[in-house]
Amino acid sequence: MFETIDISPRVGTEVKISKADLVSGKYAAEIEDLIKKRSAVVFKGMGLSAEEQLEFAGTIGTVTLLGENGLSKISLDPTVSDTADYTRGAFYWHIDGANDLYPAKATMLTAETLSEWGGDTLICNTYAAYDDLPDEKKEEYSRIKVRHALEATQRMVHPDYSYAELQRWRTRPSQTHPLVWHHKDSGLKSLVMGATAYYVHDMSREDSDAFLAQIMDYATQDQYVYRHKWTVGDLLVWDNTGTMHRADTYSLDSKRLMNRTTLEGEEALS
Ligand SMILES: [Fe+2]
Repeated sequence: MFETIDISPRVGTEVKISKADLVSGKYAAEIEDLIKKRSAVVFKGMGLSAEEQLEFAGTIGTVTLLGENGLSKISLDPTVSDTADYTRGAFYWHIDGANDLYPAKATMLTAETLSEWGGDTLICNTYAAYDDLPDEKKEEYSRIKVRHALEATQRMVHPDYSYAELQRWRTRPSQTHPLVWHHKDSGLKSLVMGATAYYVHDMSREDSDAFLAQIMDYATQDQYVYRHKWTVGDLLVWDNTGTMHRADTYSLDSKRLMNRTTLEGEEALS
C-alpha cells in the first residue's frame, strides 16, 4: 500500500503506508521525491519506535548523530532534554541549522507526549513563496545577503539577557547567507529567513528590521503553510532546505515530547 493525499494545493501530503514498508525503505525514492515536492509529509499514527524511526531515516538520507544515536528528545523540560532552553526558540519560524553552512536536509518528528493545548507544528513552503514573487522582486532579492545568528533567536526568547548570556550565544557559529537559495541539484530557488535572521547586510537597522518583517509576512501567508495537529504516534517529515517551521505556543511547563531525527545537509547554503 502506498497512497498519497495532498492536504492543500501548495504544501503538505499525507501518506498511507504500512509500517513494514515505511521502515524497509521499499518506497524510499517516492517518499524522498514527495518531501521535496510537497515540503511536508505526514504519516498519521505510525507509532514508530526509536529504532524504527532511525531505520526509516536511514533509507532517505544520512542520519545526523545527535542525542541517543540520532534521536533527540525535544522538550521544554530540562530534566528530559539538555537543549530545553534552545527549544523555546522553536516557537518562532526557523530553518534547522540556519547558522551552519550546511543546514539539515530534512527533519522528522514523532509525537510521544502531546501538550495539553497548542503545540501544533507549522511548515511553510518557501519554494512556493519564492515562485510567486513578481520578477522585479526576484531580481531585487537575488542581491540580498542576511546574517544568521543564534543571538537573533535568543534575544526574542530572553529579552532581558545578560552580558554573559550574550557572550555565550556569540560563541556559536553564525553565517551570512543569500536571501535566495539557488539549489544546485534541482535548480529550484527558496527563501532563507526566519528567527535566526539577524540583519540584512548593507541596510540600516531600521530598514533591515522592516524588510525582514515584510518578507516574513509574505512567506508565511496561509496558502504556503501546513499546520499539523498532532496525535500520539504521528510522524511528520519536512524538507528543511525549502521550508521554515515553528511550534505553535504551548505551556512552558508542558510535558510535550517529540523524538527528532535530522538528516545531514547535502548542499552548502551559498
Ligand atoms: Fe526546528
